[in-house]
Parts: sequence; C-alpha cells; structure tokens
Amino acid sequence: MRDQRLPLAYVCSLFSLLSCVHQAADLDIQLSLTLKPKSDMSNLVFGSVFTDHMLTIQWSATEGWQAPHIKPFGNLSLHPACSCLHYSVELFEGMKAYRGPDSKVRLFRPMLNMNRMAKSAERACLPAFDQSELLECIRRLVEIEQDWIPQSESVSLYIRPTFIGTEPSLGVKKPTNALLFVILSPVGSYFSTGIKPVSLWADPKYIRAWRGGTGDCKMGGNYGASICAQHEAVDNGCQQVLWLYGDDHQITEVGTMNIFLHWINEDGEEELATPPLDGIILPGITRQSILELTKNWGEFKVTERYLTMADLCCALKEQRIKEMFGAGTACVVCPVGRILYQGEVNFLFIKNKLIKFKIN
Ligand SMILES: *Cc1c(COP(=O)(O)O)cnc(C)c1O
Ligand SMILES: *[C@@H]1O[C@H](CO)[C@@H](O)[C@H](O)[C@H]1NC(C)=O
Repeated sequence: MRDQRLPLAYVCSLFSLLSCVHQAADLDIQLSLTLKPKSDMSNLVFGSVFTDHMLTIQWSATEGWQAPHIKPFGNLSLHPACSCLHYSVELFEGMKAYRGPDSKVRLFRPMLNMNRMAKSAERACLPAFDQSELLECIRRLVEIEQDWIPQSESVSLYIRPTFIGTEPSLGVKKPTNALLFVILSPVGSYFSTGIKPVSLWADPKYIRAWRGGTGDCKMGGNYGASICAQHEAVDNGCQQVLWLYGDDHQITEVGTMNIFLHWINEDGEEELATPPLDGIILPGITRQSILELTKNWGEFKVTERYLTMADLCCALKEQRIKEMFGAGTACVVCPVGRILYQGEVNFLFIKNKLIKFKIN
C-alpha cells in the first residue's frame, strides 16, 4: 500500500511536520492606542466583556504556521464559505488566570488545556501545533492584559483559545487554512453571592454525546446542539440539563460540567464517584484535579465508575446521598439542589441536606 502513495503526499506530510512549530520568539506585538475603561468588574455577565488585545496565529498547508500576532481586539474577516461556518470545523478551550494574595498572576494547570486542545485539533483534522510555544504566546497576552485582573477574589480572567478551519470552500474536507486565536474576558466569581445549588432537568430525550462521537473534545458543534435542551430544561423550571445516556439512563455530565456524587455506595462505603472517561465524557481539568486531590486526602473511596438514575434514586430513598456537584473551570464546583426526572422523582437539597423527596 505504501508504494501506491503519491510522492506529493510524502512531500506535504514532511513539510507539515517541519512547519508545525510557531515560535513565541517571533511574536509580533501591536499595542492598542486606546484602552477600554475597566469599570464595574463586579457585575460581569459571563463572557460579555473582552480585554483590549487578542492573539492570532494563521496556518496554511502550503506555508505552515505564520508568526503569532498580539493586536488590538477586533472583528475577524472571514470568507463566507469558511469551513468553520458551514461544518463546525471549530474547537475551543476554557482556562483562567487568577491574581493571588501575593498579587502574582497564575494560570491553573495550563499545559493540560494545551494538551486537550491538541487532541481536539487532531479529531477536527486541524493542524498540530507546538503546545509550549502556544502557551508562551498566551502567557505574553495575559501579561499585557494583567490590569484586567484586579486584586480581588471575585474576579478572574477567562481565557478562550479558539481554533477554526478557514478553508474558503464548500467541500467537506480537511482544511488547508486555519486560524488559531485567543481572546480574554474578565469574569466574576460564581461564589460572590454565595453558593447557590442548581436545579437539573434529567430527560433522555436529548443526548449530549455518544461513543465514537466528539463529546470528549471541546468542539463547538457539541455546544450549539445542546442549547435547545437547555431551553427545555428552563421551560421545565430547571436551570441546567443532567445529560443521560443509554437505556439504563447513565448519569454523564451536567450542563457543561463534569458530575460528582459523594455518597454511601451499594456496598456501604463512603465514596466520591464520577463517570469514567469512556469517550462520552469531556475530560475536565477540574475533574482531574478533584480526583487527584481527594485521592490524596485518603478520607473516602474515590472512584471513576458508571452511575445510573436508578442508583441515584435508590440511594436517595435510602438517604445515602451526601452531596452531588458539577465541576468545571467556569464555576469550579457547583452543588446540585434538585433533579426533575421524568416528572416522577423530585428531590431537593438545601446546603446539601435532603429536605424533600417525592415519588409520584
Ligand atoms: C469544559 C467542560 C467541562 C469542564 O472542563 P474543565 O477543564 O474542568 O473546565 C466539563 N464538561 C464539558 C461538557 C465541558 O465542555
Ligand atoms: C464588529 O462586529 C460587530 C457585530 O458584528 C459590529 O457591531 C461592530 O461595529 C464591528 N466593529 C467594527 C470595528 O467593524
């Protein structure tokens, strides 16, 4: 088979290998002449305010990665046939920079985001990039924008690396043009007004991810397709969707967070459980960090295992649930207050104490 490959393909693959590195040392920085006012940072709606600059890096199959640019935040100009617009050749990351009490700005485990982004890029047929060089470019951008992170526990800087196919053609194919860009948005803490448990709508009608799909990658298409389920959750008086999977209604994720259950399991053991990374779960960095931390505590069993709605309902009836929470970069940890399951089961925790439980 190998002999039948075109020599051109050899040349191209060799070339893309050589040009898969964009160098932070080549970074071109053009600072904005006017800076936006950084007024009311306490009342921020998630992802609605952006800083003064952005990072952009172009790629093409013929020329490889171009020099990275930091330039004033502004609109992109795209060909109307762009593959990101038609076929969702798009992926993103979500990470945060925090200012510590020592006033230093820190990113939270950012190489894990770079690594996950590289995996999403592979799945999307977008080109490979040098993870450390991209991180260095992001570090420079955050450094330039550090005044957007006040000395405050309630504000952090959300970092949104984005990678899109910009192939100017309607053919469904691997893009030969792509754009990687990074924008920054100051965000308030979910905890500034206290921890508010969320209510969940659990209905197997919509499926977030399936084996062989893209649910384990942060690809835009996964999220656009989930908005209508989110609306139905709200119509049913709930705030977010509890995503179920399979005939046994496995509990997979909540909204755009991984799910954790702290309970006394079927064998009477105290356990912190979250579903395993079997292809339909997004490998969250908060999830990984919680698993690593709690395993270190050694206070209870920490398990990656399947959990079904039947397991949950049975444990509720027997009062074996201690706590249930979502975990992700945006809100870090978010307690679950109530779950509506096929109109049959309705329960409520307040401050993680079960106060009402009803089966019709
Ligand atoms: C981003 C995301 C998470 C959380 O991942 P973190 O790396 O912890 O932010 C969980 N589930 C889904 C579906 C996500 O998109
Ligand atoms: C950028 O796009 C937005 C909305 O699409 C528009 O309102 C705004 O005027 C554009 N900015 C510039 C500088 O063109």
